[in-house]
Amino acid sequence: MNEKTEVETVEIFIMGKRYEVPKGLTIMKAMEYSGYQYVRGVGCRGGFCGACATIYRLEGDYKLHTDLACQTTVQDGMYLTQLPFTPAGREQYDLEELEVDNNPLLDLYPELARCVSCNTCSKSCPQDLEVMDFVNEAIRGNIKEVAELSFDCIQCGLCAARCPAEIPHHHVAQLARRIYGRYQAPESEHLEKRVKEIANGQFDDELEELVNLPKEELEERYENREIEE
Ligand code: FES
Repeated sequence: MNEKTEVETVEIFIMGKRYEVPKGLTIMKAMEYSGYQYVRGVGCRGGFCGACATIYRLEGDYKLHTDLACQTTVQDGMYLTQLPFTPAGREQYDLEELEVDNNPLLDLYPELARCVSCNTCSKSCPQDLEVMDFVNEAIRGNIKEVAELSFDCIQCGLCAARCPAEIPHHHVAQLARRIYGRYQAPESEHLEKRVKEIANGQFDDELEELVNLPKEELEERYENREIEE
């Protein structure tokens, strides 16, 4: 005999239309459960690519909430809207030709100076980054600090979508990370040494052994690998 299991549901609204969806689904799965098909605004489904930036409201709450559709669970009374794209201009530049001694961030993105320190950018970041802090560092030309503070940025652009000064924070931060990597990061001597060792065939035998290992043993070795603290 088939026993019917009751599925707990929540009520959500997509583009104003009401749906009952199982509790515990992510926004992305709830949209698909409701019959929508993602053609854009989706990528990795794992919280890394930043493609699924979503804006929503909750009943009785005036705030506009921002999150990633693939990482956020639906809530009862959620009003969802998909944005067709995140409007934020990315400047064109040639990394090799940038004048990095002055402040290339401010040169390319003068709108940084319009920051009114409202902190909306930090509040809308699904990665919980201190976006306003790295904007302040960018205004001061502290490339390394911007690169470090924005290291976990996934370029979803939700900060830019909410910014009253129309600053494209994620593009500014990406430029800072590029400049830091190209001009300021210390040389990685151990990496160069290891690349040379690999090129000289020092690990050929070990690699050959790994390639020929049965899958189970390979998995076991992977599970028990040494992990740096
Ligand atoms: S689909 Fe890539 S972050 Fe959500």
